[in-house]
Parts: sequence; C-alpha cells; structure tokens
Amino acid sequence: SAPFTIAIDGPAAAGKGTISKAVAAHFGFAHLDTGLLYRAVGAKVLLGVDPARAARELTADDLAGEELRSPEVAQAASKVAVIPEVRAALRDFQRSFAQRAGGAVLDGRDIGTVICPEAEAKLFITASPEVRADRRFAELSASGAATSRAQVLADVKERDARDRNRAEAPLLPARDAVEIDTSDMSIEAAIAAAIAIIEARL
Ligand code: C5P
Repeated sequence: SAPFTIAIDGPAAAGKGTISKAVAAHFGFAHLDTGLLYRAVGAKVLLGVDPARAARELTADDLAGEELRSPEVAQAASKVAVIPEVRAALRDFQRSFAQRAGGAVLDGRDIGTVICPEAEAKLFITASPEVRADRRFAELSASGAATSRAQVLADVKERDARDRNRAEAPLLPARDAVEIDTSDMSIEAAIAAAIAIIEARL
C-alpha cells in the first residue's frame, strides 16, 4: 500500500517536536525531526566547513549529539537554511524517509509546502512568541544553560523572521494544513487534537 505521510510544520518551540514524537508513537510510524539536519549542517559550519559541502556530505552519525540542541547551533541552522544548495542537498534524504513503508511523520518548516506536498495529513503548530520563549527558556534553564528569558525571546523572534522571510521554502502553512495554536493548551490536549485530526484522514 502507498505510504502514509504526516507533515508537521511550525515555528521554533511551538510544540512540534513533542507532538510529532507522540503522533509517531501513537500510529507506529517512523519520525524524522528535519530541524536536526539543518542543525547538523549549522554545527559543521561553526567549525569552518563550507555549508553546501557540509549538507552534501551529511551522514546519520552527524545527527546525534547534545551540542545540536544549543542556541548557537539553532541560529547557525537558520542561517544555513536560507542557502538553496543546502536545502537541495537535504531534500532527497527527507523525501526518501517519507516513502518508508509503514508511514512516516516529518516535522520542520517546509514539509507540507515543499518536501511532502502530497502528505495525507498536514498540521501547522503555532504559539505566541512569548509562550514559545517561556517554554524554551524553561528547557534551557533545566539543562543548566546560562541565559535569560529576554535573550531567548530575542533569539526566537530573530529565527522566526529569518525562517518566514527567506526566498526559498519560507515558513508558512500549506493551504491544506490544519492549524493548532498551542498557546493556551496543555501538551496532552495538543497531542489529542493532533491525533484526532490525523485519524480523520487515515
Ligand atoms: O526545528 P529546529 O528549531 O530544530 O530547526 C532549526 C532551524 O532549521 C530552523 O530555525 C530553520 O531555519 C531550519 N529548518 C528549515 N526547514 C526545516 C527544518 C528546519 O529551514 N524543514
């Protein structure tokens, strides 16, 4: 049977990652956090590697490591993500992943619009910048990072602007995406809403 693909897009810290993992577990699908690909390229560029080359030579081994979670790497990721050669080099990997037998969940910024425009279910997860900064600040503080809420909010807004305003594959909901604003929702409620929307398309 044809593979079933779920595309989950949205800005940083809106709850995409948590929702995607829960959805994948619920339906027994494979999950790809596509932000990790851009983060891995960003991390290499911080070490001096050429961005297009880093993207072409990326391997699965590059996708592990706590340092990929840092705010510095997140900013570097959004900078390399504007480069068309980088996006092109990462496209096939993402599309092959989506073709997996048994179904796949991909989360990112352009899954529903560019990578998997034929996805059977598309979600666009949002939350206000303030709520997203609070969540990211709580995560970073818990992991011992020295940062302030104001700094995290500034970072979130800078990354949003770069992701929304780039020429290629900007962050925006696909026309047929269902939007979930998680600002005033518990994570459990957001997961339940996502599962209900997808179930209706199975
Ligand atoms: O989702 P995450 O915060 O890990 O993504 C890091 C950066 O990678 C984003 O800010 C965005 O610039 C880029 N990205 C992208 N397209 C995707 C996933 C991530 O441009 N599908």
